Amino acid sequence: MSAKPISLQPFAPRVFSGVQPTGNLHLGNYLGAIKRFAELQHRHDCVYCIVDLHAITQAPEVWGGPEGLMRATREVAAAYIAAGIDTKKHIVFNQSQVAEHAELAWVFNCVARMGWANRMTQFKEKAGKDRENASVGLFAYPMLMAADILVYRATHVPVGEDQKQHLELTRDIAQKFNNDFGDRIRALGLASGEYFPLAEPLIAGPAPRVMSLRDGTKKMSKSDPSDYSRLNLTDDADAIVQKIRKAKTDPEPLPSEPEGLKGRPEAENLVTIYAALEGSDPAAVLRQFGGGQFSAFKSALADRAVASLAPIGAEMRRLTADPAAIDAVLAEGAARARAIAGPVMAEVREIIGFIRS
Ligand code: AMP
Ligand code: TRP
Repeated sequence: MSAKPISLQPFAPRVFSGVQPTGNLHLGNYLGAIKRFAELQHRHDCVYCIVDLHAITQAPEVWGGPEGLMRATREVAAAYIAAGIDTKKHIVFNQSQVAEHAELAWVFNCVARMGWANRMTQFKEKAGKDRENASVGLFAYPMLMAADILVYRATHVPVGEDQKQHLELTRDIAQKFNNDFGDRIRALGLASGEYFPLAEPLIAGPAPRVMSLRDGTKKMSKSDPSDYSRLNLTDDADAIVQKIRKAKTDPEPLPSEPEGLKGRPEAENLVTIYAALEGSDPAAVLRQFGGGQFSAFKSALADRAVASLAPIGAEMRRLTADPAAIDAVLAEGAARARAIAGPVMAEVREIIGFIRS
């Protein structure tokens, strides 16, 4: 049976992004990703995924085992909803409910070259010194990520800066697939040869790289052993105030212009965070606080952070208290996701020559 072409158009705009359910959602996830997911929904069709298949590429201790995975999956869903994503208009679901992700990932494992995957810095960071002991899945992670995006033929992908290299690989995979199977794609009349779009990263934004509160040269991360390194979305007001009070700074007063932040990573990070939360820019923040001591700035930053994050945390706690309601949102999102991914995967099977009757 041959699949009907779903689109002869150059691609309709569609946004796709994902967050791993590995616990400790933090301010970097919010400013670099989730806050922007919510902004994009007013202009585009969006598909937002909780990438549980990606989470298990690391050891079970890292993602908390079955119970931890379920809790973290619902927590990311709650964060999406608390940040304002409308799950009636847009699709929110967890990756493992849509088998096409894993199926297309296998095809992409066969399209991507070892040399491409070998260059991925995130693999090197996550595998650490003991590379022999990393899972094969961790190495294949970027091909699954390409599948996530391309199984919806998504055109735009909002992510933090750390994902830039993975998106370049996604484009390379799309291009190689289009080339390798170009004749077949045209013969089937599926597209003018460009079956998959070259998805664009959306990395701009006020804080594409939020740094640790303990060390301004390291990114804020879910896996940092020090909880004081990050503001978690579920932190209450007291915790936020404490963490900002203890955040590392340097002895100089704040500069009055952004150039003065060069070589002062902690100061730069706090000013960037303030600007991102306020929706302004570092120059405006420094016009207000330049020349002053960190203590006054920190207490203003703490107020700002509490005003932005505490309501999200409270809403997340309210939502996660009813797991069945969240699971219903995910089930409905997964059904809508399958309705897009199913026909694309059917076409991919036909392009490659997998018989299916
Ligand atoms: P992850 O927690 O690795 O699944 O990341 C989810 C999203 O948050 C991705 O788009 C990341 O690029 C983004 N992200 C993670 N950490 C940071 C950070 N420190 N600053 C900005 N964005 C981040
Ligand atoms: N790799 C991303 C991260 O660590 C998560 C992710 C998986 C993703 N699949 C994706 C992001 C597809 C954007 C699009 O943050």
